[in-house]
Amino acid sequence: MPGAKKVLVKTFGCQMNVYDSERMTEALEAEGYRETDVLEEADLVVLNTCHIREKAADKVYSELGRIRQVKEERLALGRETQVAVAGCVAQAEGSEIVSRAPVVDLVIGPQSYHRMPDLLRQAASDRRSVVETQFPEEEKFERLPARGKARTATAFLTVQEGCDKFCTFCVVPYTRGMEYSRSVAAIVAEAEALVARGVSEVTLLGQNVNAYHGASEGGGTASLAGLIDRLARIDGLERLRYTTSHPRDMTDDLIAAHAHEPKLMPFLHLPVQSGSDRMLAAMNRKHTAADYLALVARIRKARPDIALSTDFIVGFPGETDADFEATLKIVDTVGFAQAYTFKYSARPGTPAAKMDDQVPESVKTERLFRLQQRLDGQQKRFNAACVGRTVPVLFERAGRHDGQLIGRSPYLQAVHAFADEALLGRIVPVEILGSGPNSLSGVIAASATHDKFPGHRGIAAE
Ligand code: SAH
Ligand code: SF4
Ligand code: F3S
Repeated sequence: MPGAKKVLVKTFGCQMNVYDSERMTEALEAEGYRETDVLEEADLVVLNTCHIREKAADKVYSELGRIRQVKEERLALGRETQVAVAGCVAQAEGSEIVSRAPVVDLVIGPQSYHRMPDLLRQAASDRRSVVETQFPEEEKFERLPARGKARTATAFLTVQEGCDKFCTFCVVPYTRGMEYSRSVAAIVAEAEALVARGVSEVTLLGQNVNAYHGASEGGGTASLAGLIDRLARIDGLERLRYTTSHPRDMTDDLIAAHAHEPKLMPFLHLPVQSGSDRMLAAMNRKHTAADYLALVARIRKARPDIALSTDFIVGFPGETDADFEATLKIVDTVGFAQAYTFKYSARPGTPAAKMDDQVPESVKTERLFRLQQRLDGQQKRFNAACVGRTVPVLFERAGRHDGQLIGRSPYLQAVHAFADEALLGRIVPVEILGSGPNSLSGVIAASATHDKFPGHRGIAAE
């Protein structure tokens, strides 16, 4: 399409934003836009933003500064540029964004993306900025165009949005609204469409995905386990994952699914945030360290080789050395395959931001370093334990070196191997020969007669 308008979508934050960006791009493509990754070429720039920590939110304004320059340069050449801010900063700050950065034509909250093309036209014809941060009644997903072409063999699929948990540090309940689950029928239809386009692994997304309770096909509601059970029956859908889960919603049927559903991958991201009961209570997590350990034991009983991942916050208000030691202790007790660590960041409007005893930056930095070191060691050991095993790898894309492909193991590790491009999108047994902190390397296993799935052969977390 010569002369078609070009759009650049830049994504910050979590996988739900990645998913939303794809859907937004598809909606704009349906309106005749083509994607570009060159800012100077873009007739429309969309920033899909994240508000979770101060640094994430600040990035938006530095990006907008650069975009304003390019917009002026393009205008000097007689070319218009529209700028939209979407996502959680849009929801949290609304019209404040336009006051701080008049370059912005449209501010659009996460629930209104289906209206984006219309609102962009409105902004252009009225020659003024439009701010849309309502939580509309209608279902944005069902109003967006059907899924476009698959980019890789793996895809995200949002099944649940919002959160009612109100952890005292977190902005998500304010930016994404109350918990909402899509219907099983809508999710099945989207998964089938993805599979028809070559997708074989789907990661079900939700801010609180294991609280999923969507309308089931036969009336009543389905749990996440019920949804997984239904999706596993789709031919050609080989692998299922889900994220992010809250420990409070890890129900028996979901744990059991890890034991009996071979398509459900043995990897679970289960944020714990802290190992101190005092901190967990102040965070309003509604579970203790002992509850978390008991839960991990039940999950491992169901699926002994499961790889566990988690999130930690260091320097939550009032965190003492003893609280931090409790965090290090829970790391040692559980043994994580992977983890994300964050310094507590005070967020406007959240209860923790107003708490006394904010922890000094230097203390947060020191604790973060110590925690990361401990977790890095565990991750390295977890990866090293895979050396010598043959694991099924779903190849997703070409690697950096000629002839190299990159895929994922069942445990979500990146795996590099020299392999024919024809194997892209296929699940292939790979013998693991090497391991690093962040990835594995291997060769296509000599005999392709290996069992399709490693099942419960067992891999220690340590
Ligand atoms: N819904 C998910 C994750 C939400 S945000 C859950 O319940 O765990 C992802 C992670 O960001 C959180 O798990 C938490 O570790 C971190 N996070 C959230 N708010 C934060 C804040 N104010 N400061 C630092 N880290 C934060
Ligand atoms: Fe935020 Fe807590 Fe909800 Fe997760 S469970 S999104 S951390 S409020
Ligand atoms: Fe960020 Fe919003 Fe996701 S605040 S982490 S983009 S839900």
